[in-house]
Amino acid sequence: MCGIVGYIGNKQAVEVLTDGLAKLEYRGYDSAGVAILNDNDIEVRKFKGRLSVLSQDLERNNIHGNVGIGHTRWATHGEPSDINSHPHWNQSCSIAIVHNGIIENYMDIKEDLLQKGYKFTSDTDTEVVCHLLNEYYEGDLVGAVKKTVSKLEGAYALSVMSRDNPDELVAVRMTSPLIIGIGEEENFIASDIPAILKYTKNVYILNDGEMALVKKDGIELMTVNGTPISKEVFTVDWDVEAAEKGGYDHFMIKEIHEQPKAIKETLSPRLKKDKTIKLDDINLTKENIENFNKVYIVACGTAYHAGLLGKVLIEKFVKIPVIVDIASEFRYGNPFIDDKTLIIVVSQSGETIDTFEALRLGKRKGARIMAVTNVVGSSIAREAHDVLYTWAGPEIAVASTKAYTTQMASLALIALDMAVKTDAISQPEYNKAIEEIEQLSSKVAEILEDLDLVKDLALDIYQAEDVFFIGRGVDYDVAREGSLKLKEISYIHSEAIQAGELKHGTLALIEKDTPVIALATQDRLYDKMLSNIKEVKARRAYVIAIAKKGNKEIEKSADKVIYIPDVMDELSPILSVIPLQLLSYYVAKERDCDIDKPRNLAKSVTVE
Ligand code: M6R
Repeated sequence: MCGIVGYIGNKQAVEVLTDGLAKLEYRGYDSAGVAILNDNDIEVRKFKGRLSVLSQDLERNNIHGNVGIGHTRWATHGEPSDINSHPHWNQSCSIAIVHNGIIENYMDIKEDLLQKGYKFTSDTDTEVVCHLLNEYYEGDLVGAVKKTVSKLEGAYALSVMSRDNPDELVAVRMTSPLIIGIGEEENFIASDIPAILKYTKNVYILNDGEMALVKKDGIELMTVNGTPISKEVFTVDWDVEAAEKGGYDHFMIKEIHEQPKAIKETLSPRLKKDKTIKLDDINLTKENIENFNKVYIVACGTAYHAGLLGKVLIEKFVKIPVIVDIASEFRYGNPFIDDKTLIIVVSQSGETIDTFEALRLGKRKGARIMAVTNVVGSSIAREAHDVLYTWAGPEIAVASTKAYTTQMASLALIALDMAVKTDAISQPEYNKAIEEIEQLSSKVAEILEDLDLVKDLALDIYQAEDVFFIGRGVDYDVAREGSLKLKEISYIHSEAIQAGELKHGTLALIEKDTPVIALATQDRLYDKMLSNIKEVKARRAYVIAIAKKGNKEIEKSADKVIYIPDVMDELSPILSVIPLQLLSYYVAKERDCDIDKPRNLAKSVTVE
């Protein structure tokens, strides 16, 4: 999604802005631009396409200036084009802005402005903000921003500069994330930490309805009504290296290989020597848990797939019914929420708008909200009652990998913690689960030791037009994740089907050589799954099975078998997804796809 960077200080703004925008490329974008205060004029350069197009233009034109704002745009209103790119400006080009989010009432505002004689050049919702600022500007930039935002509805993060206030940048946040980086004799604005991490680790995180007047030598924080506020400085505890490729070809493969460490760092601090679980920021008591009559797990995409395992684990160990819902459906459905409801929201970024709004809906209706997220200080982390952080480190590739496995590991801890607190689990069952959890990291490492087979299999299937993933129980949940991973980075059409459902329709699509990835890791369901493999084999499909080590029998039915270490059925997704992530990666590589930044997708989905 869109990215914002702003700079005021002694450095050349072009350098800081392009460097920051490059760090935000992973969020997904289709155009990029900057506005620089250059000899008392605002110079705007903006282009459709990759950041390199902008950088080449900036090099050619040698634009100087120590104050500026920059943007990477992911089109929502108006196609990707030079004109629709940000920054946008007022007619005299004395005020320029960059904007993330959507101004929902822009059509009404535009009507009024057209009647007042304003002319629009772009198709964006953003341009109304420039003209409103122009309308209200009387020499006081902060005052104009306050009046402007009082007219806006929707989600936005704005960074504003003015030719006539050369020592000021103004930043304002409503729902879309925005931070202020604190430097010495320089300060920064950014939509995401990596953009400014090279320059500072100290930031203010703006809340909804807050704004900042950012100068070279100071930052004033206030509400959008102008009431001054003070805030704690948040110090980022990871560094630039963590957000770089470190010798790997892509962030995705680096992040796949980081999973043993990420899982260990997520689990170890919470598992005590005496085998008890201590979940830092979760304060649910036995009484709280016994008061719940149901749990919702709400998330999007891969995080939703992690939630599917959360259901299995909570229902098995805690014995409370769990409903897993897609956040964008939950928000506009009729969920049964009251003060007897626990809602667990799962989000790597902590900023996904649908998940965040689902959280807010749940809170309004009296539910207890628990968040599983990877980003400290994110909107979701700050608004939830309880938070469990996945310690996966920054995930840059759009395709989520280490976030998924650490989310599932976290949900396992949450389920066991709730089960122990309510005496819903027997001691032997608990001990067994903990023993299995403790081995997850090394078992993932074992799978990652030998990549030859999966690379060969990628060569077998990379030209396929359709790939089917089948499974039963949690194997089906992993099949869904495997299918999503493959389609999002390789652009091959794929579907995940409950293996038992094949013969109710999808079997019609299976023909000679159709690749079918069959997950067969569930001891309880193994015989049934074997029958399903035989069904597709009878239609001459090309079957790649995922099975537990030691299962030689399956080699008679499948064309190829990828083995995972033996593991408790309910925890197998944390292992069985690894070959699927690798397979997607190597297939996409073979197809020469833009693996870390797949077309049309964004890392952090901050618009509906
Ligand atoms: O940041 P979140 O976990 O809330 O993101 C949710 C989804 O957008 C995300 O998991 C998406 O499905 C992944 N890019 C898929 O790999």
